[in-house]
Amino acid sequence: MEKLKLDTIYAGNCIDVMSSLPEKSVDMIFADPPYNLQLHKDLHRPDSTLVDAVHDGWDKFESFKSYDDFTRQWLTAARRVLKDDGTLWVIGSYHNIFRVGACVQDLGFWILNDIIWNKTNPMPNFKGRRFTNAHETLIWCAKSPEAKYTFNYESMKIFNDDLQMRSDWNLPICLGKERLKDSDGKKVHTTQKPESLLYRILLASTKPNDVVLDPFFGTGTTGAVAKKLSRHYIGIEQEPAYIQAARKRLANIQQVEMSLVDPTVKAPQQRLPFGSLLEMELLHPGDKLRNLSGKITATVCADGALSCGAERASIHQLAAKLAHLPSCNGWTFWYLENGQSLDDLRQKALALLQTGKKLAKSS
Ligand SMILES: C[S@@+](CC[C@H](N)C(=O)[O-])C[C@H]1O[C@@H](n2cnc3c(N)ncnc32)[C@H](O)[C@@H]1O
Repeated sequence: MEKLKLDTIYAGNCIDVMSSLPEKSVDMIFADPPYNLQLHKDLHRPDSTLVDAVHDGWDKFESFKSYDDFTRQWLTAARRVLKDDGTLWVIGSYHNIFRVGACVQDLGFWILNDIIWNKTNPMPNFKGRRFTNAHETLIWCAKSPEAKYTFNYESMKIFNDDLQMRSDWNLPICLGKERLKDSDGKKVHTTQKPESLLYRILLASTKPNDVVLDPFFGTGTTGAVAKKLSRHYIGIEQEPAYIQAARKRLANIQQVEMSLVDPTVKAPQQRLPFGSLLEMELLHPGDKLRNLSGKITATVCADGALSCGAERASIHQLAAKLAHLPSCNGWTFWYLENGQSLDDLRQKALALLQTGKKLAKSS
């Protein structure tokens, strides 16, 4: 069994490659499989111009039966390689998504949502007596109903102006600078997905450093966004030209700083009770404190209270009382006799605690 190589593109058939990877080793799978568009003739727009549609060999199957067999095989291989709490995303159109959805359920996956990707700039109308296709469907599923999968609910809510994210996403198709073109200006790939779609998917359902597998890697859109967001990717693709384009694309992707992508990273914990300064022997019972002008003084008690004549209270309460204020932050009010503020002493204590934690971890 092959060891998992991170941030790598495997060349070959995804069913074989996935079967060679360790079981339960990836956190999320995004799959953009062949759609089986069944295009037998050219498509034309109303003005008779030719539509740049998918005629690639990799999208052709002899029958629905052969497409279903292929779908079952790759989904089975994907299920084996996915961790028990991992999730699977599959994107498709009306041509294939219902067949894929049935197979997903038959294999034991538990559907969490279907997302409608509403294309804000769909391809123009074909010359045909039906509606313009303006959306694609994504199925998002867990391995079982009991799985404790990742969903970054809070991040999604913040992303959506403090409203719970909905299952219909309005996003443009991949155009402009993002669309890979060869030296003749021809599209490198007929179905390159927009990075914005993967951005939302990865933000919602993975954590930094998670391993994301894309068995139909194409131009590497999943890898590009994974790299940006400090996730690891594994791509599988059978066409050498797409692999080459994806490698070049990935080499130019800049990673966003980790502290900016991890929703669990919070501002450093600043709270420290005053009594800790005594426990840590940075202060001692009997030490004198004063305000900045030196006109107000107090003595440190063994339990962390301050005393001044008949008054005895916390650093905040005594400062407020003696300075005749409704409230007062004792950390910035009191100074040691050497001129150091209590706040500076608190920062020193926090730094010592952090170092202690690091030392404890490394020992
Ligand atoms: C719909 S496209 C994916 C496009 C990709 N999401 C992107 O943004 O560029 C499907 C890709 O899967 C590849 N493919 C099809 N069958 C495959 C197989 N059995 N194993 C590996 N790759 C395959 C095709 O060459 C094609 O690049």
